[in-house]
Amino acid sequence: MIDHIQSILQQGLKAIEEATDLTQLQEVKNQYLAKKSALMGIFSQLKDLDAEKKKQVGFEINAARDQLTLALETKQKTIETLVMQAKLKEEVIDISQPATHAYQGSVNPFFLIEQTITDIFVSMGYQVAEGPEIESDHYNFELLNIPKDHPAREMQDSLYFDENTLLRTHTSPVQARVMQASQGKPIQVICPGKVYRRDEDDATHSHQFGQVEGLVVAEGINLGHLKQTLQAFAKKMFGEKREIRLRPSFFPFTEPSVEIDVSCFECGGKGCNLCKHTGWIEILGGGMVHPKVLTMNGYDAKKMTGFAFGIGIERVAMLRYGIDDIRRFYQNDLRFIQQFNRK
Ligand code: PHE
Repeated sequence: MIDHIQSILQQGLKAIEEATDLTQLQEVKNQYLAKKSALMGIFSQLKDLDAEKKKQVGFEINAARDQLTLALETKQKTIETLVMQAKLKEEVIDISQPATHAYQGSVNPFFLIEQTITDIFVSMGYQVAEGPEIESDHYNFELLNIPKDHPAREMQDSLYFDENTLLRTHTSPVQARVMQASQGKPIQVICPGKVYRRDEDDATHSHQFGQVEGLVVAEGINLGHLKQTLQAFAKKMFGEKREIRLRPSFFPFTEPSVEIDVSCFECGGKGCNLCKHTGWIEILGGGMVHPKVLTMNGYDAKKMTGFAFGIGIERVAMLRYGIDDIRRFYQNDLRFIQQFNRK
């Protein structure tokens, strides 16, 4: 019986030795250690033996089982290590291979400039306000001191839904909305957004474009504050060396009104094609908020004053990047947009 156990043990160890993968090893385990295996079957024969022999044979069976179990475990570890090594070898990454090109999106220069303008004013303490693009005649014109039949309406060829509803022609109605919401308290906001005009489709006009409105209302605000603010803006936007100048202009909602030019950043003011040989480039309009506008929107014009300005986003972007045609912003031509990667 003990010889039989020994020969089973030797066969088992040999089978373990010869197994080359985990499936084979599992089969060996089933064959030699399962309840119905030859080795375990010997247990059932123990009852016919005398006590001394029983003990001896039982000991031998257990010893054989332990030896087989240990051999199985060792072999399993060896196979697993080999499998892992083969896998690592197979899946090795060649970091010297050239990478496949991944397309990275770019931001349309319109949004780059809108964001830059916003950042500049937010850094000066301005809050950002928004208003609806579908606006009433009341807000777009009346509250800005542009009554019906006023010639200034002519300048802003509008897109109407009905007699009283239109696509806003400028971001200035947000001035009225912010004033009404602020109920006489000081204001310092910018309002970026889209505006619409029934304009010619040519290189400098579009029926839709972007503006950033600015509005500051408080006690003692004067034109010097407007000049200083826009001077700081021009330097941050176009370079530290830039100067601005104010020219008289007209808007019904500001008095006095100004047109603001920045010294040409192409020629530094000497005169070139970009500035049409004047040394200056017009960048925006502004002025002191008209007392009527303050009053109509709930402010005591004797106590509080304010300034306002409106910046054309595409205009700034065209100047800053030398873009020749406003329609490029909307055509989604990747060859155009990809030139404005943030790097
Ligand atoms: N709303 C004016 C326009 O669109 C610009 C402007 C804004 C002028 C604020 C003065 C003050 O032309």
